[in-house]
Amino acid sequence: MSEPAAVQREPSGEVLLELTDVVKHFPIRSGSLLRRDAGSVKAVDGVSLTVRSGETLGLVGETGCGKSTLARCITRLYDLTAGKVVFEGQDITKLSARAMRPVRSKVQMIFQDPYGSLNPRRRVGSIIGDPFAIHRIASGDDRKRRVQELMEMVGLNPEHYNRFPAEFSGGQRQRIGVARALALRPKLIVCDEPVSALDVSIQAQVINLLADLQSELGLTYIFIAHDLSVVRHVSDRVAVMYLGKVVELSPSERLYHHPRHPYTNALLSAVPVPDPDLSDSRERLILAGDVPSPTNPPTGCRFHPRCPKARPNCVEDDPSLTARLDDEPSHQTACHYPVVDGEDLTAARPQLPSSQRAEDLVATRSTEGSETS
Ligand SMILES: Nc1ncnc2c1ncn2[C@@H]1O[C@H](COP(=O)(O)OP(=O)(O)O)[C@@H](O)[C@H]1O
Ligand SMILES: [Mg+2]
Repeated sequence: MSEPAAVQREPSGEVLLELTDVVKHFPIRSGSLLRRDAGSVKAVDGVSLTVRSGETLGLVGETGCGKSTLARCITRLYDLTAGKVVFEGQDITKLSARAMRPVRSKVQMIFQDPYGSLNPRRRVGSIIGDPFAIHRIASGDDRKRRVQELMEMVGLNPEHYNRFPAEFSGGQRQRIGVARALALRPKLIVCDEPVSALDVSIQAQVINLLADLQSELGLTYIFIAHDLSVVRHVSDRVAVMYLGKVVELSPSERLYHHPRHPYTNALLSAVPVPDPDLSDSRERLILAGDVPSPTNPPTGCRFHPRCPKARPNCVEDDPSLTARLDDEPSHQTACHYPVVDGEDLTAARPQLPSSQRAEDLVATRSTEGSETS
């Protein structure tokens, strides 16, 4: 039987955000004015995504894949090198700071570090009230009342209005960040690893809070994490990033049960979750080595030096993100040799001339019980 459930999970809201070929390169300063071509860090290199109103799009990938840079392009904290960002039908790619103002109130960001992103010398009431001050919306008692409403909404005690960030726990500090992001009633919140810095026991509380707020306020989320297990239950769809590109995009549950890209398979088999569905059927595929430098990314498919299925054409041709095998159009994979359901990747070996292979990576089969987290 096919999977009607996966089709139903396709978000049906209107398109809220549309990214077309978004590119962000950071030029490398050579230190000498004469040497101008020192190259660039290709942090985001051609990402196209559509986000619909009310959905949560998960964005995952190892550290350094370009997730935060993409987030900052979406919220226009960075100017794009190329490409286009359209929000609510409006092209915001090149809007001036002034023209961006009304958009800023609708697109907010929550950051990973609940310590670094809060000024330790300011009281939380004034931190949460910042957006009101910046946008000159409410003042005096009115502002205080609104801030206390926000505190209540995120599960903070409104009486703690005059406390300093250091008087709150990590989870509470992330709630402060959430309250500040909610102040202007945004439509889209880009959550950049909002729970990665928190204890595992606290993570679920913050995720549940975000989920509750979403249904209460009709929010749309882009939820970034480096760990697939974190985004699984909150995301309608998941985009997997590798070295500045999206390599797989799929309705969430589908991605977990039918991962097509070898990179997604590797990420999934690294997830240390006691999921009987997955662990029974899957050997552990260990990805050795680090993400290669985005300054000089591999040719063709960027994953080829680490890929157990790589063949010569993977070195030449960059595969497009499209439906592979018998997948629905909503499930797209950028891979010439997508993984078939049930395929044992730990048995696969790259078929490349040795000069094109990373020495330190081969898929390995781990014996049961020997897994270290
Ligand atoms: N401001 C910057 N200047 C130069 N390089 C950067 C800058 N920000 C990020 N990078 C580089 O871009 C790549 C992607 O980084 P980032 O977007 O932070 O990835 P992620 O959030 O997935 O860990 C990394 O190689 C990082 O070193
Ligand atoms: Mg990041």
